[in-house]
Amino acid sequence: PKTYPFVVVSNRLPVDHTIDENGDVKWEHSPGGLVTALEPVMRSNEGAWVGWAGQPDLDVDPFENDGITIVPVPLSAEEVQRYYEGFSNDTLWPLYHDVISPPTYHRVWWEAYVAVNRRFAEKSASVAAEGGVVWVQDYQLQLVPKMLRELRPDLTIGFFDHIPFPPLGIFSQLPWREAILEGLLGADVIGFQRADDASNFSRAVRHLLGYSTTRPYIEVPVDDESAPRSRRGKTVRRVLAKQFPISIDSADWESLSRRPDIQARAREIREGLGNPKTVILGVDRLDYTKGIRHRMKAFGELLSDGRLSVEDATLVQVASPSRERVEAYMALRDEIELTVGRINGDYATMSHTAISYHHHGYPREEMVALYLAADIMLVTALRDGMNLVAKEYVAVRHDNDGVLILSEFAGAADELRSALLVNPHDIGGLKNTIMRAISMPKRDRVTRMRALRRRVLDNDVARWSAKFLQALEDVRPGSSISA
Ligand code: G6P
Repeated sequence: PKTYPFVVVSNRLPVDHTIDENGDVKWEHSPGGLVTALEPVMRSNEGAWVGWAGQPDLDVDPFENDGITIVPVPLSAEEVQRYYEGFSNDTLWPLYHDVISPPTYHRVWWEAYVAVNRRFAEKSASVAAEGGVVWVQDYQLQLVPKMLRELRPDLTIGFFDHIPFPPLGIFSQLPWREAILEGLLGADVIGFQRADDASNFSRAVRHLLGYSTTRPYIEVPVDDESAPRSRRGKTVRRVLAKQFPISIDSADWESLSRRPDIQARAREIREGLGNPKTVILGVDRLDYTKGIRHRMKAFGELLSDGRLSVEDATLVQVASPSRERVEAYMALRDEIELTVGRINGDYATMSHTAISYHHHGYPREEMVALYLAADIMLVTALRDGMNLVAKEYVAVRHDNDGVLILSEFAGAADELRSALLVNPHDIGGLKNTIMRAISMPKRDRVTRMRALRRRVLDNDVARWSAKFLQALEDVRPGSSISA
């Protein structure tokens, strides 16, 4: 079978399996930060992408799609429930996001996580060329680096964690914490979004595994059977663990925003909302980490206090459906939709709604129009690995206008210092920041947006992947050192 010098491994493939009107199978590009991020890199390398097609019991041979070789990994319905909905999204996701929602620990979910990670590792091992580079993505696949290294010691292995890595006190709850750390340490380079994530990880490794760390390296003891007895246990492998903040294809977003039809659509959106003085926008997957309730509480209180009316401001909330079979997500949806209904019931008029709520995903073009239509972008995540929406908003504002309100708890806050930073738990502070954004003079808006744009346009996703791949090249095997 054909092998590839560059292999990306992620839970979700960059394509979705769909059936069209004629009953024919079609593969459609699925949206999402990760996909958007890696596609350009895949095309310029001879790359294969190993992942799950997003549906149970689908066993398909590798195929070409838009210049990328797609290598599907099948999951049974039970595995989807235990490995994906269960361990990935009801254990790891809440645990890694500061236990905003209580994590569930089930041994059968863990067993499924191990089994599925092994399948991903085996599939990757079978398509990677001799001496090739394999880049594993995200929390669903943390055991793959170690499993893959055991199968294929010739490979250079990278891992990137797209979500936060929690502080030791929280991570320690995990009954399988040592296995997860060892799994990750199979990589040559482990990338994180923020410096804090990398140091949380190193600290966990020191305390739970007892390995030495000299920032940004971790020294992993190597079992070297061939070494003389006196040197056994003294050989170490150096693993690099540091931040590589992810980004977006900034120029693509910006160029869409210059299209006249999309600008016309932005005006149409404002008109459709009854031309309120201020359009405030929230765009998120419907997830409890995003602080959607906090945002609605603040906005609702501004209306009830009389500091705002619906003619003054409309909140547009796009909440794209996500992980809908996980209990916590169902409960969140009910709660948010109840809140939207209440606020609109109390404050909407025949001509203006308070919250324009959309439980959909939209194509990029429509998102750009929405960003252009929004005077204020409101990102209130309680914890977020990066938050690419904040960067997308900035990238499309070539008019240098618009105000970004950004949670301190999003990774993006490390870079986007010229945003109005907020603590979303502080509802009073959040309300004041919204009012400050509404009345901010144009001159100040432009100064801030210019600074934000420089960051986002300079540090795009091509640069992110180039930096990560360079780091991988720097530490290629053979760099094992003796302590
Ligand atoms: C986050 C994760 C990704 C994930 C995405 C969508 O961004 O970091 O790994 O793919 O959410 O979630 P889903 O469960 O639909 O893949």
